[in-house]
Formats: sequence, structure tokens, C-alpha cells
Amino acid sequence: MDKKSAIFTRRSIRAYDSSRRATKEQITDLLDAAMHAPSAMNKQPWEFIAVTDPDRIAGIMKIHPYCESLADAGTAIIVCGDLDAQLKSPDGGYYQFDCSAAAQNILLRAKEIGLDTCWCGIAPEKERISAFAKFFGLPKNIEPMALIIVGYGAETPESDTGRFRREKIHFQTWA
Ligand SMILES: Cc1cc2nc3c(=O)[nH]c(=O)nc-3n(C[C@H](O)[C@H](O)[C@H](O)COP(=O)(O)O)c2cc1C
Repeated sequence: MDKKSAIFTRRSIRAYDSSRRATKEQITDLLDAAMHAPSAMNKQPWEFIAVTDPDRIAGIMKIHPYCESLADAGTAIIVCGDLDAQLKSPDGGYYQFDCSAAAQNILLRAKEIGLDTCWCGIAPEKERISAFAKFFGLPKNIEPMALIIVGYGAETPESDTGRFRREKIHFQTWA
């Protein structure tokens, strides 16, 4: 599938074919795409944890309340931010923006190569951040940002082509 089609046909998938799994090569391909995302001052403050072990998957499902389809999908990618490596400003840091761009690249690349995904939020929920940090034994400077479910979908929701809203576009100024 070409990139334009991937953008317009990607949907969050919440039912997966448990007989098929993303391969290690495919997972690496997704993370290659993630690492090509833009980042503030090109700091690339991201780290990724890929999980395919069923026991570890079951553990993740205990600490995230909205990822029921993960068991069948079989693969989780945790996108994490490095608080020390991110661009900092007096008003905060940029890691969540950078990691969101990386996460979106994963979703689109997955669609392009025939995989399905669902982004499940971790940040900014404090309880989830600490539960994931504890589960993975993360160092203090590494913050989990998103859980991405990856697998072969067992549902095919319609492409949501009706989202374009002309009134959301403002040329030159707001009015
Ligand atoms: C920051 C963020 C957090 C999300 N968290 C969850 C989640 O915990 N569980 C889930 O099933 N979907 C989650 N989603 C997916 C959204 O529900 C989904 O993107 C939205 O309904 C639009 O549908 P679409 O992705 O099919 O276009 C999340 C998406 C984003 C961007």
C-alpha cells in the first residue's frame, strides 16, 4: 500500500487474528520508520520496547485498562521518551511531541506493510506512567508515552473518509 492510502485508510483496530504475528523484521521496520520522525532540535529523545512474549503481554494487559485486543494481536511497542535527551525549555520539554510523531510513523508504516495497530495512551496519566515504569524497570529519565498494539486485524472498519472539515481551516488569520 502506498503512503497516501495508508494515511487515509488507517483505523484503530481492536480485534486481531491470533494465528498471525508480526515478525521481528517487521517490528524492526516499524521502529526504523519511527526513528525517521521529526523531533525538536533533532534530539530524537525516543526509546522503544517491543514485547512479544505472551507472559509479558499478559502483564501489560493488567496495567493498561483499555488494551483488550493486545492478547490476540501479540505484539506491543512501548514508545518511551528520554527526559534527559529531549529538548528542554523553561516552559517544559518536547519529548511527548517528538514521541507522538514517532508513534504516528509506526501506525502509518504498519498500515503500509499490511499490519494493523491501535495507539493506547499512557502519558499523561500519572498512574499508568508509574505502572509501566515499574513493570519495565525503567530508569528515572525514561518515561513511557504510548502503547501501540501491532498485529493482523480481524475486523475491517470502513475508511473514515468523512473527516475533512473545511471550517477547521483558517487561511492567513482566524476569522
Ligand atoms: C493519545 C491517544 C490515546 C489513545 N488511547 C486509546 C486506548 O487507550 N485504547 C484504545 O482502544 N484506543 C485508544 N486510542 C485510539 C483512538 O480511540 C482512535 O484513534 C480514535 O477513536 C479515532 O479512530 P481511528 O484511529 O480509527 O481513526 C488513542 C488514540 C490516541 C491518539
